[in-house]
Formats: sequence, structure tokens, C-alpha cells
Amino acid sequence: MKHYFHYQQDVLFAEEVALNEIAEKFGTPCFVYSRAALTERFEQFTNSLTNTRHLICYAVKANSNLAVLNVLAQLGAGFDIVSGGELRRVLAAGGDARRIVFSGVGKSVDEIRMALNEDILCFNVESSAELERLSEIASSMNKVAAISLRVNPDVDAKTHPYISTGLKQNKFGIAYSDALGLYRKAATMKALRIIGIDCHIGSQLTEISPFIAAAEKVLVLADMLSNEGIHLDHIDMGGGLGIQYSIEAPPQISDYISTLSVAMAGRSEKLLLEPGRALIGNAGILLTRVEYLKQGEENNFAIVDAAMNDLIRPALYDAYHNILTVQREKHAVQNYEVVGPICETGDFIGHARSLAIAPQSLLAILSAGAYGMSMSSNYNTRPRAAEVMVDGHKIHLIRERENVEQLYAGEKLIS
Ligand code: LLP
Repeated sequence: MKHYFHYQQDVLFAEEVALNEIAEKFGTPCFVYSRAALTERFEQFTNSLTNTRHLICYAVKANSNLAVLNVLAQLGAGFDIVSGGELRRVLAAGGDARRIVFSGVGKSVDEIRMALNEDILCFNVESSAELERLSEIASSMNKVAAISLRVNPDVDAKTHPYISTGLKQNKFGIAYSDALGLYRKAATMKALRIIGIDCHIGSQLTEISPFIAAAEKVLVLADMLSNEGIHLDHIDMGGGLGIQYSIEAPPQISDYISTLSVAMAGRSEKLLLEPGRALIGNAGILLTRVEYLKQGEENNFAIVDAAMNDLIRPALYDAYHNILTVQREKHAVQNYEVVGPICETGDFIGHARSLAIAPQSLLAILSAGAYGMSMSSNYNTRPRAAEVMVDGHKIHLIRERENVEQLYAGEKLIS
């Protein structure tokens, strides 16, 4: 991947824009995305798939800003949603409902109705109870719901346990051994139309073998269905391809795709994928400013104005994000605990980082495009950060910084 966040002389740029200019204009903390990086990643998927019928359904949960969704919609993406809220975002961003797949174990009645009204492409059904609910709602609306069953292939994704989803002890999907029976049942339900099969085994996978193992199991099931006269339009292999945060070496998109294409060779079904992080993860950074440097008894602390409410991944998964100085400055290099202002020891961005900084220095927290803003919160009554998208020399503010009044606007005093 080309480096869309790169130094020109001693200043870190996003494409053709110096990050200190963004900090001055919009303040910090601020997420900054590169349109070119996002576009390049999407095109790596589609260019590797020219000989395979496919639809790339971006996992909206990774980053649901309307501008991000709109850039992807313009590139022809479909979308993988997990809530009515995400459905409304995709439509508001100009996405095509006919390219939406709806995943998730807990779809509510209202969400199902909304999705049926919009004629989405497919419901990825995760349980027998959901199948019943969907069938009842669809028939009450005189609609036919297109479905896939999300099967749980019981494959170890070899990733962080919190983001591993394809093991039999996980809450996701339908047990592999139950899937055939449930397909047979679905085939008898008049308000349902079986169009696919789906799996998603986890996120931030850095090896290709679990994808192969899952694909093999899913394709065996697809063939069994076909033998019973249940022919599928598509095979959805989910998302999960990892990115480089540190020293890990995840498969290249082209290698991942060619592996899946080999598995799909000679088949008539369309390949669906649901990547999130692989598209937007390294297309975004979080810009933050050093508030204070503080020498503790054991550690030096760099207290910055971004915190776990802005980027929860380090606190939640002990995730590593590289941290760079926006301007290379001539300060003494020291080891810092990079921490936020929140009143929790878990509020850290990085441990033992070697940095040449002073108060007011700007830092870029890398690989923050996925599961950064979308998992942010208002903990400690901290307004959410601004979001900016850079496109060449152009800077677009794609979400204003929240203000405190917005945070308590819905709250009421009691008499
Ligand atoms: N499809 C389904 C059904 C999913 O549940 C997910 C992610 C994806 C696709 C996209 O996965 P990706 O390509 O982004 O790996 N918050 C965690 C990641 C949670 C992923 C949840 N599901 C993190 O920050 O690492």
C-alpha cells in the first residue's frame, strides 16, 4: 500500500495536507481519513476479483461516517449492516438497498420491518428463532425475505478472543451440524427465499489458513444443499482480513482473494465479502495534542487530549497502535506512557513509546480508521472528536466536533 500518511521534510502529511494545519483548523482530538487510501484498498479487492462474480459489502460498523459510506457507494460497494441505524446511515449516504446484507444475532421486529420495506439484498439469519420471526413478519407484510444462513464453521480464527466469532462456543451463527436441517425448514417457508450461505469467523485475522478451513466447510454445505435442489445465488465469506498495526504480516488482499477464488473456481455462485478493517483501518489516524508531560516515580507520562472514549481498542483488547510525532522536533527522546485524561488506569493509548515531544506537540495515532470513531463514547462527558477527510489538497470536515449541550440535550431534571 502506498503511504498516504507520510513525512514531507519533517512534517507528517495526509495526502497533500500537513496534519498540523488540520489540527489548527479543527482542533484535537480529530480523526483524519485519506480518501485515496480508502479507494485504493477497495480497488485492491475489486481488481483482484475481475474474473469472479462478486459484491464487496463494506462492514459499516468499522466506520459509519456518511462520507466514508458515500465514497464506497460511489465505488460500487454493497454494505453489511447490523442494525436499523446502520441501514438508515447507508441510505442517507446514497447506498443501494439492493446491495445490503443484514447480519447480527439480535435483529428486532422493527429492524426487520424496515429492512423488508427497503427490499435489501439478504438477511444473514443467525438462529432458528430468527428464521421464524423473519418468516412471520415477511408474510404479514406480503413480502418474501431473501435469506442466507450464517453458519458457524467451528474454525479457530487465531485472533483476540473478543473478536473471534467462528468457534462453536461463540454466540454467532448456526451450528454447522444444524445448518442443513434449518435450510430444509427454510425451504418450506413461503415468505422466505433462500439465496445464499454466510459465515464470518472473526476479525483481525493475520493468517490465511482459517479462511481456507471455513471456506471448505461452507462450500461442502453449499454442495449438499445443491444436491437437495436448493441452489444458492451467493456464498458470503464474511470479513475479517487483518491489517498491519505493528509487526504483524497479514495476507495481502490479492493473496487472500486469490485463495478464495481458487476455492470458488468452477462454481456459479457470486462471492460476497464483508470487509471492514481491511478497507478503512489504515486509511485513518487520530490526531491528538500533548497536554502535559509528567514524571511519575516509575514512568514518564505523556498526557494527551485523546482518550479511551475516542479510541477504546488499547483499553479493550490491549491493541497496539503506532504513534508518530506530527512534527519531528529536537526534544530529548524518552520512553512515555501515552495516556488520556480519563479517570481510569485502562485509559492508555500506548505503553513505553519512545518519543521526542514537549507539551503541545501533535501526535498521530495510526491505524485508527476502523473501530475508532464507531466505538467512541461520551465517557467523562467528553464530546466526540471531529472527523476530517482529506482528498489530495482538499480538506473536508465530515463530522463536526460534538459540543457538551448536545450530550445532555435529551436529559430532564425532575421537580
Ligand atoms: N461481518 C460481520 C458479520 C462482522 O461481525 C464483522 C465484524 C465484519 C463483517 C467485519 O470484520 P472486519 O473485516 O472489520 O474484521 N471492535 C473490534 C472488531 C470487531 C469486529 C466485529 N465484527 C476491533 O476494534 O478490533
